[in-house]
Amino acid sequence: MYFDNAATSFPRPESVIRAVEGWLRSGCAAGRGGHAGAVDAAQLVQRCRSSLAAILGVSSPRQVVLTSGCTESLNTVLLGLLSAGDRVIASELDHNSVLRPLAWLERTRGIHLDLLGFDAGTGLLDAVQLEQQLDAGPVRLVVLTHASNVTGRVQRVSELAALAASRGALVLVDAAQTAGHWPCSLDGLGADFLALPGHKGLCGPLGTGVLVFREGREDLVSPLKFGGTGTESELLAQPERMPEKFESGNLNMPGIAGLGAAADWVLERTPELLRANLVAKTDWLLAELGRISGLRLLTPSVPGEICGIVSFVVPGLDAHEAAMVLEQAFGIRCRAGLHCAPLVHRALGTESAGGAVRLSVGEFTTESELAQAVSAVGELAMVAR
Ligand SMILES: Cc1ncc(COP(=O)(O)O)c(C=O)c1O
Repeated sequence: MYFDNAATSFPRPESVIRAVEGWLRSGCAAGRGGHAGAVDAAQLVQRCRSSLAAILGVSSPRQVVLTSGCTESLNTVLLGLLSAGDRVIASELDHNSVLRPLAWLERTRGIHLDLLGFDAGTGLLDAVQLEQQLDAGPVRLVVLTHASNVTGRVQRVSELAALAASRGALVLVDAAQTAGHWPCSLDGLGADFLALPGHKGLCGPLGTGVLVFREGREDLVSPLKFGGTGTESELLAQPERMPEKFESGNLNMPGIAGLGAAADWVLERTPELLRANLVAKTDWLLAELGRISGLRLLTPSVPGEICGIVSFVVPGLDAHEAAMVLEQAFGIRCRAGLHCAPLVHRALGTESAGGAVRLSVGEFTTESELAQAVSAVGELAMVAR
């Protein structure tokens, strides 16, 4: 039983599998030539971009850059935008794909980083503290995670982004845990840059990701990599045109074929319906695990506001040991540890227990699997007492 959908979704829609296989069988070029195979590939990339633009509420598909994952998308903005002296606000909820590039930029470029805290009870970022930090001096960028990959709590990003924008700060939203199975539009979130993976809520292949630029914001960011784009080849300078500016090198065509099929799969169902399915499962799991005595839940009990993740600690049991028992005795595959988000665990005091156990559900998680997971965690908690 697979309960690690927050890492990558599994199983995948049949249409995604067929698209990847189909491309590997008949695809032959990355869309940057003049022959029929290259034209087909270019059309496939264009369709993928258009479907993603429709999901993310972006009027021009050219603003949708295809990357290798959310990590590359986040790094592209952080490393391409920030320079010496810039003040940045990130938060304790952030993933290492935000915290590590920022720590490196602090050390090597002399940026200044402020960290926003969150309320352990509600799981929400502290809007009052954000306002104070914004008022302490000019801020170049605010990084907001749409939902924590440890607690699963979806943040009120549009309110926080509006605060940032009112003080002239740019906003980068990490939608790793929400995109696809939760409505995520550039305007709805108030983002200048929107980073997301193709392989979680969108149910596309691993090795795919997306970075969306609000129109004009691409001019503020230097590319992470330079190289061939199949356009303006006579120039030694990187093209400024979108999306080529950020897409050097042959594209990941099997991945893009799968991502396009995944985006169409999401559009057919709609993110609203996928959210409703996800919320029904998450809320049920959260309520049932909440009844198990002795279990410490890290996910706040706020129905309708949690995107597929329920994390907990079994007091007296190391998180990795707990996950090992869940797999070996009950066949449950889940994720234990710090989840690449060490500051959340530091704030919640769960570091010494080896972090937490995270169960994460997806579109294909069944009622029977949910019931079996609850019963397994119940037995685990009883044995640990
Ligand atoms: C909140 C968050 N941000 C960023 C990432 C990085 O995503 P990717 O694996 O696509 O690089 C993850 C992955 O788990 C995540 O949960």
